[in-house]
Amino acid sequence: MTDFLTFALSRRSIRKFEPTPIPEEHIRAMVEAAHCAPSGCNSQCWQFVAVTGQPMREKLAQAVREGIRSFFEGTELADDEAFLQGREKAFTFFQRAPLVFLVFLDHMDYYEKKTLGVYERRGIGHRDMMDRMGYPDVLSVGAAVENLLLQVQQLGYGACWMNDPIMAEKQIKAAVGADDSLRLMSVIPVGVPAYTPREKVQKPLEQVLRIL
Ligand SMILES: Cc1cc2nc3c(=O)[nH]c(=O)nc-3n(C[C@H](O)[C@H](O)[C@H](O)COP(=O)(O)O)c2cc1C
Repeated sequence: MTDFLTFALSRRSIRKFEPTPIPEEHIRAMVEAAHCAPSGCNSQCWQFVAVTGQPMREKLAQAVREGIRSFFEGTELADDEAFLQGREKAFTFFQRAPLVFLVFLDHMDYYEKKTLGVYERRGIGHRDMMDRMGYPDVLSVGAAVENLLLQVQQLGYGACWMNDPIMAEKQIKAAVGADDSLRLMSVIPVGVPAYTPREKVQKPLEQVLRIL
């Protein structure tokens, strides 16, 4: 059995996939792994949508193309067709994966009522409060995504954690009928890797660790 560090070191982002379909039991295992991640106040503040059908994947890609065009509308880049097409290509490669996860942030409530009361009296809104607390809701979703990625790899698939498509959050949410209150956090294409990634340039440990 591979030790955990070797396993973690071998995880890489994959951006091209074989069309091989992914069975539902594997999809469920991926989300189960994500769903058991730690979360602030045990809020489990995440929702997942698993998209497998080709028409819906194409609809999502179209939503992203619309979102990109809408974002740059009225700017000096709106007429830069080469730039826009480049963004479209980079932001929509997920559509060629047999499985695409949409990861949403649900609402996270802070449990300590007295502290919460002080935030409220000071006129600090929910989002600002979460930011001041070190983004526990965002971090929780990140933990879930990493668990998901590791389960993906353990099952022999590859994936890419994508945030570029979030530029089209409004259009993507409309395409899948997601509740307005949810925040789209990540798009994750999954499938059998169609290539072997190049070796990764990793900063030396000394650059990111201080042991005191
Ligand atoms: C929060 C986050 C957002 C990312 N968004 C994108 C993205 O939109 N498109 C993309 O191709 N890769 C994206 N990546 C993948 C990174 O480029 C990749 O993780 C990084 O280059 C390290 O490579 P590795 O995953 O192979 O170790 C994202 C990664 C993270 C953690």
